[in-house]
Amino acid sequence: MQVIIFDDAQQVADNAAQWVAELITKKTNPVLGLATGSTPISLYQQLVLKYQAGEISFKNTTSFNLDEYLGIDEDNSQSYRHFMNENLFNHVDINKAKTFLPTCSQGENPREQGLRYEEMINNAGGIDLQILGIGANGHIGFNEPTSSLASRTRIKTLTQQTLSDNSRLFSPDEFQPTLAMTMGIATILDARYVLLMATGENKAKAVKDMVTGALSAVCPASALQMHENAIVVLDKAAASQLDDKEYYLWADKQNNKINEEFGLYHNY
Ligand code: PGA
Repeated sequence: MQVIIFDDAQQVADNAAQWVAELITKKTNPVLGLATGSTPISLYQQLVLKYQAGEISFKNTTSFNLDEYLGIDEDNSQSYRHFMNENLFNHVDINKAKTFLPTCSQGENPREQGLRYEEMINNAGGIDLQILGIGANGHIGFNEPTSSLASRTRIKTLTQQTLSDNSRLFSPDEFQPTLAMTMGIATILDARYVLLMATGENKAKAVKDMVTGALSAVCPASALQMHENAIVVLDKAAASQLDDKEYYLWADKQNNKINEEFGLYHNY
């Protein structure tokens, strides 16, 4: 795991935006894995700015989102489709026909829909770079604690903690879905690179469990310990419970030196 610690959340977003920009600029038909939630909003703002400045284009990008709520339509303002349109897709030149979320409408068989999403990812050539946030309970996507580390796209029942963490985004009289379709942990681990962003003190315990805790379904993000190319970008608050912060800062300096000498090498 490559752990990179920045002073603040803006630097985390800037760094994540550089990873995305590098992928979509260098690769002919890039496949991006996208995430929703509060954390990646500043990443998407950076990407929109880069697009407006003519530095990047999403013309040839295909995207797959981690998850989508069940029980609301995509035109509902709480849907993750709506979130992606508002925060990124409406502001850049991505072909919306090549942007996918794991949906399962009323009457559709969730098992078939899950398999279909996996097939679509495979047919697109697999995900080059998967963006991730982390729940305060260690979830990635909506893979809640005790999710199988071998899981694939399927329905998950959200935990009380996730429901209460996300209730801030719903007004009291609004329907808050309790079920979602989510990529599985094995689906996420198949991505060539994963980039997990975490900011704020409330993520510090989950970050510690992910980076230095046991590999365990109790902290789904700990599965990233098994990934060859997992990058974790943190602000100081999210890194605050990590032991050995000096080591990560030192290792990052060494990596930057190697990159300066040999150029960035990403095996997309
Ligand atoms: P947040 O969610 O960015 O809104 O904190 C992260 C997550 O639940 O994955």
